[in-house]
Amino acid sequence: MRITSARFVTSLAALRPFPGRGLPEIALVGKSNVGKSSLINRLTNNSKLAKTSSEPGKTRLINLYRINDSFFFTDLPGYGFARAPKEEKARWARMIEGYLAGSEQLRHAFLLVDIRHDPTDDDRMMAEYLRHYGIPFTVIATKADKLSGAKRGAALMAVCRGTGAQPWEVVPFSSLSGMGVDKVLGRVQEVLSPAPEEP
Ligand code: GTP
Ligand code: MG
Repeated sequence: MRITSARFVTSLAALRPFPGRGLPEIALVGKSNVGKSSLINRLTNNSKLAKTSSEPGKTRLINLYRINDSFFFTDLPGYGFARAPKEEKARWARMIEGYLAGSEQLRHAFLLVDIRHDPTDDDRMMAEYLRHYGIPFTVIATKADKLSGAKRGAALMAVCRGTGAQPWEVVPFSSLSGMGVDKVLGRVQEVLSPAPEEP
């Protein structure tokens, strides 16, 4: 699939009706600073669409982007930002969980983990949470440009162990180089128009 149009629709502090609601939604979840907003920018070829920062804690609300007039990307705040004030962290967790548990249009989540590090306890909890609530998800290992090809394989195995994903399900991705973009877009296509089941 190709993305031909992408626009910011709204920021919400909690899930409530918004223009266009009813189209399918695909959410980006993961630790603060893992590259959720950067992935949206890379996929849409618009480096200014979602705000990014080298400092964790940039995205602080539920941000909805309308793509190809056919679905939404939901950019969420990150978790696991140790230095954030306790109340702020609790607020973000409520926002993330309120959205994931509350959206009727949520079709899929992209769970982003940093390819260089073993998944954290928060990452494991998020994978468990998604499974528990029956939210289908794909693990995306971000910042793959930061590892040489030889190290990438071992790193991906660690990602699998930490998230419970199968090796062929994890997509190595780089917003910098564009690695994995076609695969992620392929997943989006499959999520939006699943192949008919065999009779
Ligand atoms: P929060 O909104 O704080 O939860 O973070 P986020 O997950 O949206 O991360 P964001 O997209 O803001 O990126 C964080 C930092 O990582 C920025 O400095 C990005 O430029 C950098 N970054 C994101 N993706 C990549 C990548 O694939 N490769 C490299 N080298 N840097 C990346
Ligand atoms: Mg962000």
